[in-house]
Amino acid sequence: MYLINRIPFSFSFLSFSVLAQVVQAENVTVIEGGTAEINCKLHNYDGSIVVIQNPARQTLFFNGTRALKDERFQMVLFSPRLVKIALSNVNVKDEGGYFCQLYTDDTHHQVATLTVQVPPAEPTVEVKEQAVEGGEVELTCIVPRSKPPASVRWYRERREIIGVTSQQENDKTVSISNTIRFQVDRKDDKAIVSCEATHPALRGQKRVNNYALNVHYSPKVKIQYPAGVLREGDTLTLMCTTMGNPEPESVEWTRLNDSLPDRTEIQGKALTIPRLSMMDNGTYVCEGENQYGRSVDEYVLVVYEVPIQTEEPTEVSNFSELPKDPGAIVEAQSSVPYAIIGGILAVLVFAVICVLIIIIWCSVRQKGSYLTHEASGLDEHGEVQEAFLNGNENREGKKEYLL
Ligand SMILES: *[C@@H]1O[C@H](CO)[C@@H](O)[C@H](O)[C@H]1NC(C)=O
Ligand SMILES: *[C@@H]1O[C@H](CO)[C@@H](O)[C@H](O)[C@H]1NC(C)=O
Ligand SMILES: *[C@@H]1O[C@H](CO)[C@@H](O)[C@H](O)[C@H]1NC(C)=O
Ligand SMILES: *[C@@H]1O[C@H](CO)[C@@H](O)[C@H](O)[C@H]1NC(C)=O
Ligand SMILES: *[C@@H]1O[C@H](CO)[C@@H](O)[C@H](O)[C@H]1NC(C)=O
Repeated sequence: MYLINRIPFSFSFLSFSVLAQVVQAENVTVIEGGTAEINCKLHNYDGSIVVIQNPARQTLFFNGTRALKDERFQMVLFSPRLVKIALSNVNVKDEGGYFCQLYTDDTHHQVATLTVQVPPAEPTVEVKEQAVEGGEVELTCIVPRSKPPASVRWYRERREIIGVTSQQENDKTVSISNTIRFQVDRKDDKAIVSCEATHPALRGQKRVNNYALNVHYSPKVKIQYPAGVLREGDTLTLMCTTMGNPEPESVEWTRLNDSLPDRTEIQGKALTIPRLSMMDNGTYVCEGENQYGRSVDEYVLVVYEVPIQTEEPTEVSNFSELPKDPGAIVEAQSSVPYAIIGGILAVLVFAVICVLIIIIWCSVRQKGSYLTHEASGLDEHGEVQEAFLNGNENREGKKEYLL
């Protein structure tokens, strides 16, 4: 942002008649760490001495020659119209008025004000103490340095959470914090709340810290068990799943009022009993705990006998569609004879229906033939008549032949 300082009107008015030399300075704004260019514009320059001084009024350049030992200052241009110096790696201490002076009969100066902006870094988030379900969480978003002060806001799912903002000035920059407090539930664990810092030097961009909530809660355990019927000889695998923060490190498997079968294998959270027997019937319990509580789930195991197979399952054509569960396969095998019996029954029913149809059809046909017979009786009569007539004709024909 370069802003042109106007020549004070009174001055121009006084010196109009002489076409006096005039110097004009521009204000300048720069981001910390960048390079500032300070321009002293000259009007009607006639070779007078031009002096540039820093805010402490130390001479930086005397008519183009460096006077102060600070390598960050460089003379960029000295022309009759413009004297330009550059200050690199600007920091907030460089802020202030830089003097452009023109030594004429009527010594004249103008001040270029250098403003340094400090954009915010990514905010940091501090949590007061570990949040536990049912309690409150207190989060503080901190932007330690900015100038002018950044705007620091909290959002959750794009909705602003209004917090308490505080500012602290230190050495020309400002430290800003915004503290929010709210109730948390186990559902809030891992939810994201965002702290966003906006600042004019960021030109619409934001510095964002997406903070994932960490809410501790007591565990919930659940036993996952296979579908279908379990029979002797099958292998049972139960999986105990846990949900908790912190996650229970391990689970404990027990059997209600009894001890686990000796064959039981426990691996992590899974329990496996190979070669099931009916003696394994019982209630199996999984228990998990963390410092906030404990949770149990139960599974009632009922082992069934292997059914006596009635027929060889030779007609079974395709097993690929059957479930992987061994118990279910056993059941599917046992259902094969039923299928055959069903088929035979269907055939029998079909046969009975066929027989019935044939019987009905035959009886209808018999009745029909009786009716035909009656009708043919009449026909016979007609035939007789006809035969009689034909006979006469024949006789006549014979007569004719005879004649
Ligand atoms: C330059 O900055 C100074 C100090 O901030 C201010 O008083 C002056 O009005 C500014 N000049 C222009 C032209 O903006
Ligand atoms: C100041 O510097 C300018 C540019 O180099 C030069 O033209 C002018 O003569 C100098 N003035 C004096 C008084 O040395
Ligand atoms: C387990 O034992 C207790 C007492 O020892 C009894 O009250 C309970 O009914 C038993 N439970 C089962 C499932 O056998
Ligand atoms: C296990 O349960 C099955 C099915 O209820 C039953 O037939 C069997 O007798 C039970 N075995 C024992 C040892 O309780
Ligand atoms: C079993 O079924 C699958 C898919 O329906 C088929 O690709 C496969 O050939 C069948 N196998 C037999 C032995 O019928």
